[in-house]
Amino acid sequence: MCGIVGAIAEREVREILLEGLKRLEYRGYDSAGIALISQKKNGDPFIDTVKTVGKVNKLQSAVKSSKLSGRVGIAHTRWATHGKPSVTNAHPHRSGEDIALVHNGIIENFEALRSVLVKEGYGFESDTDTETIAHLIHQRRVKGDSLLEAVKATVKRLEGAYGLCVIDNNEPDKLIVARSGSPLVIGVGIGENFVASDPLALGQVTDRFIYLEEGDIAQIEREEISIWHKSKKVKREITTVLHQAGDTEKGQYQHFMLKEIFEQPRVIQETLDGRVSKTSVLEQAFGIEAPAIFDQVQSVQIVACGTSSHAGLVAKYWLESIAKIPCQVDIASDYRYRDIIVQPGTLFVTISQSGETADTLAALRYAKKLKYVASLAICNVATSSLVRESDISMLTMAGQEIGVASTKAFTTQLAILLVMAIVLARRTGLSAEKEKKLVKELHKLPHVIEKTLGLHRQIKTISKQFSDKHHSLFLGRGIQYPVAKEGALKLKEISYIHAEAYPAGELKHGPLALVDNKMPVVAVAPNNDLLGKLKANLSEVSARGGKLYVFADESIKYQSEKRIKVINVPSCSEILAPIVFTVPLQLLSYYVALTKGTDVDHPRNLAKSVTVE
Ligand code: F6R
Repeated sequence: MCGIVGAIAEREVREILLEGLKRLEYRGYDSAGIALISQKKNGDPFIDTVKTVGKVNKLQSAVKSSKLSGRVGIAHTRWATHGKPSVTNAHPHRSGEDIALVHNGIIENFEALRSVLVKEGYGFESDTDTETIAHLIHQRRVKGDSLLEAVKATVKRLEGAYGLCVIDNNEPDKLIVARSGSPLVIGVGIGENFVASDPLALGQVTDRFIYLEEGDIAQIEREEISIWHKSKKVKREITTVLHQAGDTEKGQYQHFMLKEIFEQPRVIQETLDGRVSKTSVLEQAFGIEAPAIFDQVQSVQIVACGTSSHAGLVAKYWLESIAKIPCQVDIASDYRYRDIIVQPGTLFVTISQSGETADTLAALRYAKKLKYVASLAICNVATSSLVRESDISMLTMAGQEIGVASTKAFTTQLAILLVMAIVLARRTGLSAEKEKKLVKELHKLPHVIEKTLGLHRQIKTISKQFSDKHHSLFLGRGIQYPVAKEGALKLKEISYIHAEAYPAGELKHGPLALVDNKMPVVAVAPNNDLLGKLKANLSEVSARGGKLYVFADESIKYQSEKRIKVINVPSCSEILAPIVFTVPLQLLSYYVALTKGTDVDHPRNLAKSVTVE
């Protein structure tokens, strides 16, 4: 995913910008570039640019052997969406000699805008949507607008998502930035200011940040920052972030697992940023070739291991209910040794946090010999083998996951899979109106997860009742069955309590025999059509003396009774429920393990990345 850094200072900024890009490397990219406002011998400003394909250290070497110098500048790491990775497609993009800009996100109506510009005589050097924005700004500048006015007028014409940072050598003392659908943060310094798509990029120069809001446009000068929202000048608070605990530090948390559970609202937001606009999903975010591939898809084959396979099982329900597309989910270690019959028009999807899981990689290599439409990797590591060997990929933005038990990787996988289901549903008749509704729900997700994390104290209290148990059952119906499976997996791997997940309707076909007063039974009860049936199944448990712990959507007002402990989960739509209900189960397993005193972050016998068969 792309990254932006910008700076305006009295000192040389090129090293600040390059260091910022280095810090954004973890997000994945294929090319990088930098533009500074330099001075000619006669003192006139001009924009000087260096761009390279590949790693930031290639850009660093190219910059070293150039004369690039300046106190105002912008830089970018690009992950190709429109146009292949190349020097011409890398940012910053120019319009004439005067304007340069960097952009994160996707402009959906760029083709229409581009053809208007071509008719007006603009020539295009790149295949990108971004170059269109540069020319639109230029068009306003030649009509007499200031740079700020030109950006304000231009963003009104853009559909899709953008985080923009623009410089102009005719107004060399400012950066103009704008955000909608892609994050931007202003780093506040003394006599110097900065901008970035992620505050991590600016950790070396400031600890004071202004988080721009959706629709904000700002003018950043050395001594002044002015922000507008819907044409009105606004004030935004400066937040001091004394020390941003990186992915490899626990910060205030006792364990990485707990930290990673609590990071979920932020990393889900980061995973959605630039992939969904206000009203629609941005399918180009899956890669340049993605739309043509998706056009051919009639069914989906998902392959993964462990927690990632549970994400696949949830996605099967979404693909069938939203996209009306059949989906098959297989465990990679099983798939790779089977005779596989590929239905025409099937997309092969792998899901993996690490992208190095031996069985998943072997399954991909096997699948590439079969007649799939293409391979898509949903993965958390941009440089992994899985991403490199797949035709297209979509990165989860979970950041490094250190706890062996996967938490934030799982929920970000689910967020991407929901986006994928919507993208495919467009081709099977999902109306723009319905897409808008689904996207509206997706935008609520980080906030609902944040509220759900508020259950941690209550869950900690009930977790004590599990610590002396040896066995437990997890129940869910329909799309909540994989959620129950994930809850059971979390409990067994970090607390070593045997946990078994069942579709609640299967109870009476065998497992009910296990139920007695020593067997805790955990159930997830969202507000959906299966609620009545689930309640009936749960009565079967309490009638046999079993102790039930029911995580129930608060809107259904499920009442606690003698043998039923109800934990009310913040209400959410049916579509978000699998993601939201995962969170209390993660917390439950964490607190049970904490009470038992097991090694939460490094459970016995397990490794974070399973690179052997
Ligand atoms: C469980 C867990 C494992 C992994 C599995 C696949 O908490 O982390 O089950 O999900 O080993 O790993 P990835 O996703 O890296 O392919």
